[in-house]
Amino acid sequence: RSAGDTDHYEIVQTAVRAEILPGLTTELWTYNGSFPGPTIHSTRGRTVRIRHVNRLPVPTVVHLHGGRTPAADDGYPIDFVHPLDMAQHVGHHMGGDVSHGERTYTYPLDQRAATLWYHDHRMDFTGPSVWRGLAGFHLHHDDEEAALGLPAGVPLMIADRSFDRDGSLLYPARAGGHGVTGDYVAGVLGDVMLVNGVPWPTHPVGRGTYRFRLLNAANARRLSVRLDPPPPTGLVRIGTDGGLLAAPIRHDHLELAPAQRFDILVDFSAYAPGTVVTMVNDFDIGAMGQIMRFVVGDERLAPFAVPDRLSTVTPPRASDAVVTRRFDFRTGEIAGHDGWLVGQQPFHPDVIAAHVKLGTVEIWQLNADFHHPVHLHLSPFQVLGRGSGGPGPYDAGWQDTIDLRPGEQAKILVHFDGYPGKYVFHCHNLEHEDMAMMANFVAT
Ligand code: C2O
Ligand code: CU
Ligand code: CU
Repeated sequence: RSAGDTDHYEIVQTAVRAEILPGLTTELWTYNGSFPGPTIHSTRGRTVRIRHVNRLPVPTVVHLHGGRTPAADDGYPIDFVHPLDMAQHVGHHMGGDVSHGERTYTYPLDQRAATLWYHDHRMDFTGPSVWRGLAGFHLHHDDEEAALGLPAGVPLMIADRSFDRDGSLLYPARAGGHGVTGDYVAGVLGDVMLVNGVPWPTHPVGRGTYRFRLLNAANARRLSVRLDPPPPTGLVRIGTDGGLLAAPIRHDHLELAPAQRFDILVDFSAYAPGTVVTMVNDFDIGAMGQIMRFVVGDERLAPFAVPDRLSTVTPPRASDAVVTRRFDFRTGEIAGHDGWLVGQQPFHPDVIAAHVKLGTVEIWQLNADFHHPVHLHLSPFQVLGRGSGGPGPYDAGWQDTIDLRPGEQAKILVHFDGYPGKYVFHCHNLEHEDMAMMANFVAT
């Protein structure tokens, strides 16, 4: 629904039973009955208001990942929407901005075109909620993007899951199962690869150029994506978390940590009709080394020439930074057992790790003891460098999530702008996040 300069959506969070594995029934927690949830489209200059009704048995919190959103609508982890059915009311009052049964989130979306996504963000419970299906795409558009006349984008939400014999989702996944360490130190990994909720799907394609918006929506699994056989023109990356790059970058493979998005163009016109092109994941072997297949048909699509320039990206300079802060993402002891920390601190809503000024630029040095995909709310950043070197091969452009490798020290240049209030930054390995690897910054 549209009225004036606002677009209205209504989403019911509801449990449904669906057939994901052939012949079996899986209970999912969904937005409007589907996994992924409905794709929301928005345009710069128009506000989006989304009314969420919670018909699930648990409290929820909705976060628009990548959105430049006022704090009250950002999905702070204790701003619970309790179930409409109050008999199922769980959880105690933690001081958040709690609502009962429903909540309307308002997104001004004064930001550049980008592949955003929305997902559950409840404190200590994001992993299980997203695993059960609470995730969807939000595609934001603007004039700069429209002027390029890009092929229609096909969103591909890649996520692993695991299932019990009766078809129900297993969370955590079976201990000792494929790639799962006993204590989930790497997070919860599944043994079925889903693309848009379908295991290892096959998509027919014509001979021409397609735009894919890749999202790694896995709880914990990192991906190294490649096409086999490879397209002669490579995987042409045109965008990243924060929208279009200044110019396209050609890759033979793409590494995506959880929550990262890559916007790519693939030209299938050089393949002979009938060719089966497999999207593989080089970080694994066997079934989990495969993601999906494309079957090239006879149909010829109108040729598309990839533009040399895509968008205007004016990165801040390191010399603009008003302060440098350091955050260590590490394991450490909390109350006698090992936990996931930012610095010395497990997440607590009242502990503020940084006070930042809107309109300023800061350097954040992020150190990791293990793989930690670190995500900042509200504030896009550019990667200044990793270790003693410059940015990595996937670091160009505006990001909201950086893939930190074990032992790595990265420097990012963060642009704080937008709205005052308290926001989180955290590891987007959802099990690490749920085990308190999250902290607050307050913007004024
Ligand atoms: Cu994708 Cu704080 O989340
Ligand atoms: Cu986010
Ligand atoms: Cu982590």
